[in-house]
Amino acid sequence: MEEKRYLTFALGKGRLAKKTLQLFEKIGITCQEINDPDTRKLIFVNEELKLRFFLAKGPDVPTYVEYGAADIGIVGKDTILEEARNIYEVLDLGFGKCRMCICGPESARDLLQHHEQIRVATKYPRIAKDYFYNKKHQTVEIIKLNGSIELAPIVGLSEVICDIVETGTTLRENGLTVLEEVCPLSARVVVNQVSMKMENERITKLIRDLKKVISE
Ligand code: PRP
Repeated sequence: MEEKRYLTFALGKGRLAKKTLQLFEKIGITCQEINDPDTRKLIFVNEELKLRFFLAKGPDVPTYVEYGAADIGIVGKDTILEEARNIYEVLDLGFGKCRMCICGPESARDLLQHHEQIRVATKYPRIAKDYFYNKKHQTVEIIKLNGSIELAPIVGLSEVICDIVETGTTLRENGLTVLEEVCPLSARVVVNQVSMKMENERITKLIRDLKKVISE
């Protein structure tokens, strides 16, 4: 019999990775080493199932998958939209649920309704651009930031932000509010387009198994 090749998974580091590994355990895919908090190893192997896993920065996951360095990726919908890579999105895992929103002080609500030329700070310039230009037909200036986006309207860098809202605590504690909703978000499974054809049987089975446990 022909030796199976490794299927490689790229997992977005952080919140999603932990939940993803718990879900994989439920379908019989385990990888002990990856759970060791002290390890500096970058790649983990399950010899028996011929699987490999690595953790990457979220925005890099679609890149690894597009180029085939990973067959499968687990990443947030926000990152999929922002990176806009040529990959297949095959499954909504139903966790990591949150929303992409336009937020700001209550006083900024008017500026959104009257199509004023405003500044929008965000870690997601493509999503913000698509929302304002293609959906709202409002011309805005987009300012790219790398984190703590809520600071921008507080210190006067922008009128509003386009950012992820999960519990709403960060907004509340900083006197900001959701002004408009862009789209719902959650963790998704993405697949390399060639792998989907070449390893169709294994990947389809994996998706089927995952679907089964998430619907339980
Ligand atoms: C995200 C997001 C918000 C916060 C929302 O930031 O950008 O700041 O979480 O969560 P909440 O609604 O539950 O308060 P993250 O912690 O990923 O860090 P960042 O500010 O560096 O982007």
